[in-house]
Amino acid sequence: MVRDLPGIEAVVVGDLINLDETRDLAEQVKRLGTFDVIVHNAGEYGLPDAQIINANSVSPYLLTALVDAPREAIVYLSSSLHTGGDLKLDTLRSGGTNVNYNDSKLHMATLATAIARRRPGLRVNAVRPGWVATLMGFHNGPHAPDDLRAGYMTQVWLSEGADPASDLTGRFLFHQQEERRVNPSVYDEAAQDALLDAYAARTGVELT
Ligand SMILES: NC(=O)c1ccc[n+]([C@@H]2O[C@H](COP(=O)([O-])OP(=O)(O)OC[C@H]3O[C@@H](n4cnc5c(N)ncnc54)[C@H](OP(=O)(O)O)[C@@H]3O)[C@@H](O)[C@H]2O)c1
Repeated sequence: MVRDLPGIEAVVVGDLINLDETRDLAEQVKRLGTFDVIVHNAGEYGLPDAQIINANSVSPYLLTALVDAPREAIVYLSSSLHTGGDLKLDTLRSGGTNVNYNDSKLHMATLATAIARRRPGLRVNAVRPGWVATLMGFHNGPHAPDDLRAGYMTQVWLSEGADPASDLTGRFLFHQQEERRVNPSVYDEAAQDALLDAYAARTGVELT
């Protein structure tokens, strides 16, 4: 990564499937100081639920709760597949593992809207990039139909915050526009609060 991004200041390393490593990663990030923007981009696909739930759902919550809030913006990566997801709050609370990719991407969109309400001074949003030709995008064959650059430009646009139109929070976006097909849980404040409670019960870490 240092070779590919020569201007990069620091790299932290951890496997988000292993929650001890996620907690250690949070400590590594905290030692770097306060960031302007945090993008929760990392994600797994096609693994057993017990690994998906940690990498795609519990770890982004832990990092949100344990790392100092950034100064400007947080972005959570979701997916169109979130519409077929379920919050599985009982599973989260009980330490169960039957959370699939679609559920985890509903978690990310709902976590974004929940955090937007908890951190009113920040721009906090969920983004779906489209089906794009990354390693993950090729998982089901070489069919990814969407534009790769457009897949990350919404995250860049939100992070920069230079365009007045990007001054948004608590929204689910696709290609710099409001996403039209959104699971009702995402904009349901009771569901947002219940998700945060379930994460706190599972991890023992409350959002402050
Ligand atoms: N590609 C699509 O069509 C598509 C569609 C909808 C949503 N998304 C979402 O977009 C985000 C980015 O995905 P992508 O398409 O860029 O996938 P990708 O090419 O597979 O890249 C995944 C990224 O996540 C990191 N990562 C994966 N598992 C990890 C783990 N256990 N611990 C730490 N880091 C881990 C990888 O790090 P390493 O490189 O170090 O392995 C890599 O940087 C994901 O949240 C995904 O769900 C993608």
